[in-house]
Amino acid sequence: MCGIVGYVGSKNAAPIIVDGLRKLEYRGYDSAGIAIHDGKSIEIVRTLGKLVKLSDALEKRTLLGSTGIGHTRWATHGRPSEINAHPHSAGPIAVVHNGIIENHVAVRQELEGQGVKFLSDTDTEIVAHLIQRELVQGAPNLFEATRRSLLRVVGAYAIAVVSRDEPGVIVAARNGSPLVVGVGEDEMLCGSDIPALLAHTRQMLFLEDGDVVELKAKGYRIETVAGEKVERKVKRIDWSAVQAEKSGFKHFMLKEIHEQPDCIEATLRGRIDLAGGDVYAAEIGVTPELARGLRRIYFVACGTSHHAAMAGRYWVEKLARVPAVVDLASEVRYRDPVFFADDLVVAISQSGETVDTLFAVKAARAAGAKVLAISNVVDSAIPRLADGALYTHAGPEIGVASTKCFTAQLAALLMLSVYLGRRRETLSKERAQEVLQALWETPSHMRDVLGDADYMHVIAKKLTHAKDVLFLGRGLGFPIALEGALKLKEISYAHAEGYAAGEMKHGPIALIDDQMPIIVVAPHDELFEKTASNVQEVLARGGKVIMMSDAAGIASFPGRTLATIRLPDCDPFVAPILYAVPLQLLAYYTAVHKGTDVDQPRNLAKSVTVE
Ligand code: AGP
Repeated sequence: MCGIVGYVGSKNAAPIIVDGLRKLEYRGYDSAGIAIHDGKSIEIVRTLGKLVKLSDALEKRTLLGSTGIGHTRWATHGRPSEINAHPHSAGPIAVVHNGIIENHVAVRQELEGQGVKFLSDTDTEIVAHLIQRELVQGAPNLFEATRRSLLRVVGAYAIAVVSRDEPGVIVAARNGSPLVVGVGEDEMLCGSDIPALLAHTRQMLFLEDGDVVELKAKGYRIETVAGEKVERKVKRIDWSAVQAEKSGFKHFMLKEIHEQPDCIEATLRGRIDLAGGDVYAAEIGVTPELARGLRRIYFVACGTSHHAAMAGRYWVEKLARVPAVVDLASEVRYRDPVFFADDLVVAISQSGETVDTLFAVKAARAAGAKVLAISNVVDSAIPRLADGALYTHAGPEIGVASTKCFTAQLAALLMLSVYLGRRRETLSKERAQEVLQALWETPSHMRDVLGDADYMHVIAKKLTHAKDVLFLGRGLGFPIALEGALKLKEISYAHAEGYAAGEMKHGPIALIDDQMPIIVVAPHDELFEKTASNVQEVLARGGKVIMMSDAAGIASFPGRTLATIRLPDCDPFVAPILYAVPLQLLAYYTAVHKGTDVDQPRNLAKSVTVE
C-alpha cells in the first residue's frame, strides 16, 4: 500500500510526479506529499487527505526543479496527518517509502540515544536518519549511504531518496514492495506501478528484492544491498497510457466494468484451440507432465481473487477430476498447512503483490510444491516467485473494487481447467469444444448485459436505503453471490452477505424480514429447482427477492419477486462470468445513488502489501 514516484530529467518534475501519484492513488489516499530539488535546495509540501489537496497546495506554492519524489499514503504507522505524510526528512535527505519497517522501534531507540529528534510517528523516518548518519560518518555519496543504511533495515520497502547535496540524483531501492524503473530519453523515473510511468516511457525494468538503483537523467546503475553490481533487463510494456485514463466514463470502475468483454477476449486470444477442443500448453504456465502428475490443486488468494478461486475449484473438480482446496491466503501463513510435493498451488492475485498471497506461495515452495500464479501484472512479485505464470490480459485496473480482473481470472481458471482435463483424459474433446466455445461467446453475451446497464441503475434505487442485503447462490452461483456482496460492501458501505442458498435454513433465514432485499444468482441449470425452493422459503418470510436468471429460470419461478434481472442463455459453466456483471453494476449504481467515493472507497487500498 502507498504509492511512490520519482522523476529526474530536464522537465519540471512536480506536475509529472503529481500525475504519476494520481495513477497510484488506488494504493492509498489518506495523505500525500512531494519533495522537489531546485538545484540548490529541497522543498517539501505535504497535505492531509486525497491528492487533490496536494494539487491545490501546489497551485499556491509552485515548486520548480527537475528532480523530485512523491508519495500517496495508506497509513500503517502513525495516523493520517500532515506530520506523518511523506516525504520524511533528516538534514539534507528526503525519503518516500512504501512498506513496513519491522525493526523501526529498535533503530529509533538507538538513534534517539544518539540525540536524533523524531518529528513523526512513522517507521519511515528512521530511513532518512540512517542515511544522514551514514553521510556524516563518511559515506562518499547518497547511493552508498542509502545502500549501507538498508543493511540495518528489516522489513518490506520500496523507497526513493533525494539529497540536497546531490542535485540530479534519485536513489531508489526495493525489498518486498514493488518498484518499477522507467527508462526515458534523457530522463529516468521510478514508481510503485507501471501506470504511474506510462505517460513518459514504455521502457521499464523491474528491480529485484535487495536492489538499490541510482537514477540520473542520462542513466542508471544497480547494485544489491550487499554491494554487488547487477544488471536488470529493460522490457517494453505494451499497456498504453490511455488505458489508465477514464476515457469519458464517470468512474474508473464503470469504465472497467464496460471493458470486460475486451479483457476476456484478450485473455483467451491465442491460447485456445476451438476446433481441437484444447488449450495450448505453452500458454498456460503448467507443463503437460505436471498436469498429469499432480495429485491436488491448492488455491490460495484473498478477497475477490479468493472468490475466483472458489469457482476454479468447482471447474477443476468437474473437468479435470482433481481434488482441490481453496484457502484464504491470510490464513495460510500461521496455520502451517500441509502441502505435498505433488500439489499444484494456484496463487491468484490481480496485483501480484498481495503480501498474504506472497507468503502462502513461499510456504508452498518451501514444502516442495509447484506454484502457478494467475495475475494481471507482468513480472510482479507473486508470478516471479512461482514456477509458472498465467497472465490475465485485462490491462491496468485502477478502481479499488476489482471488476474486470475478476472476470478475466474466471476465464483463465476455466481455460486452465479445460487444459488439465484434456491432459488428464477426464474431459472429452467434444465437451472441451463446447466449454471453450461457450467461453469464447461470453464476451458477446456480456456486451448484451452491458447494453442493459440503465436497467441496473433503476434496480439499484431499490437498494439505496437498504441497511442489509443478502446474496444467495448455489454451486457456481455461490462465489458470485459472495463477490456481489463484497462489491456492494466495498463501494456503497451497505452491509451485505453472500450465502450458499442451501445454508439459509441453517441460521441466516432468521435475518429475513420485509425490509431485507435478497439477490439470487440462479441460472436455469441442474441446481435451479433447489435454489428456487430456498427462495420460496425466503419469500414465505417476507423477504424482497431480486431474481437473476435466464429466460427459462424466470419463466419457471413461481414466486413474486421485487424485480427480475434476465441474463442471456449460456452454458452453465460460463454463467458465473456473465452473472458477475449485473452484480458489479448493481453495486456501482447503488454507490452512485448514495454518493460514496466509488473509485476510492473509504479505508481501502487496492494493493494490500501489509498483513
Ligand atoms: C477487490 O474488490 C478487493 N479490493 C480486494 O478484495 C482484492 O481482491 C484483494 O485485496 C486481493 O487482491 P489481489 O487480487 O491483488 O491479490
